[in-house]
Amino acid sequence: MHHLDIKGLEAAYGAVPVLSGIDLPVAKGDVIGLIGPSGSGKSTILRVLMGLIPPTAGTVTLEGNLVDYRDAAAVRRLRERVAIVFQQYNLFQNMTVLENVTVAPVKIRKRPKGEVETEARALLAKVGLGDKLDRFPDQLSGGQQQRVAIARALALKPEILLLDEVTAALDPELVSEVLDSIRLLAEDGMTMLIVSHEMGFIREVSSRVAFLDRGRIIEMDDARTIFDAPREERTRSFVSKILRH
Ligand SMILES: Nc1ncnc2c1ncn2[C@@H]1O[C@H](COP(=O)(O)OP(=O)(O)OP(=O)(O)O)[C@@H](O)[C@H]1O
Ligand SMILES: [Mg+2]
Repeated sequence: MHHLDIKGLEAAYGAVPVLSGIDLPVAKGDVIGLIGPSGSGKSTILRVLMGLIPPTAGTVTLEGNLVDYRDAAAVRRLRERVAIVFQQYNLFQNMTVLENVTVAPVKIRKRPKGEVETEARALLAKVGLGDKLDRFPDQLSGGQQQRVAIARALALKPEILLLDEVTAALDPELVSEVLDSIRLLAEDGMTMLIVSHEMGFIREVSSRVAFLDRGRIIEMDDARTIFDAPREERTRSFVSKILRH
């Protein structure tokens, strides 16, 4: 059974269609790299998955169960299993690092504070912030803040993590520390969908890469095929432009 199975997914902003016939089967532990030109629909796929934009057609199945995006309770349950981290990390500025990571599990999930804090400390240590627990976000670098955002998402114990350009707003020297954290998650077997312009990273970490153009998956294959020997001309053209930078 697929961990996540997307079939025939379509979405639109108003009357403008932005996703057409997206088929994306995702196995447990898969790391799917989503690449493609600006405006091709990468973020929209993640937004639809999270229930932030209603699909206009198609189905999403999570471990064999169809997700009903019209049902608010079903969307809430989905968000307990699938987490997203955006480019803008949106930390709570008035809370410490530790509080940022513990607030949702304690206040929303009603889990015991002591237990949540123990887990949060371990997560923050894992992303290299074990010594920054009592800092406030504005006392951290962008890369450190983004790692807090990743730890915050992980504190909800998601089965699937969606990452949308999480390094795009960072200074180049801060990118690698965030990528290191994501690499560790991949090694731990976390199922992930990763949108990124860091092609070297996508190539290294992805079990499969999907190339999107104009709301369609043009080609999906292992990273080596997509980057070295794509079947489709559009993929070839995109990859050759990107790799020339
Ligand atoms: N809120 C919105 N309202 C209307 N159209 C939108 C909205 N958000 C995105 N779009 C359009 O939907 C299409 C897909 O956008 P999307 O953000 O998914 O692209 P993307 O592949 O993530 O691009 P980028 O690499 O620039 O982030 C684009 O044509 C975009 O202009
Ligand atoms: Mg985007």
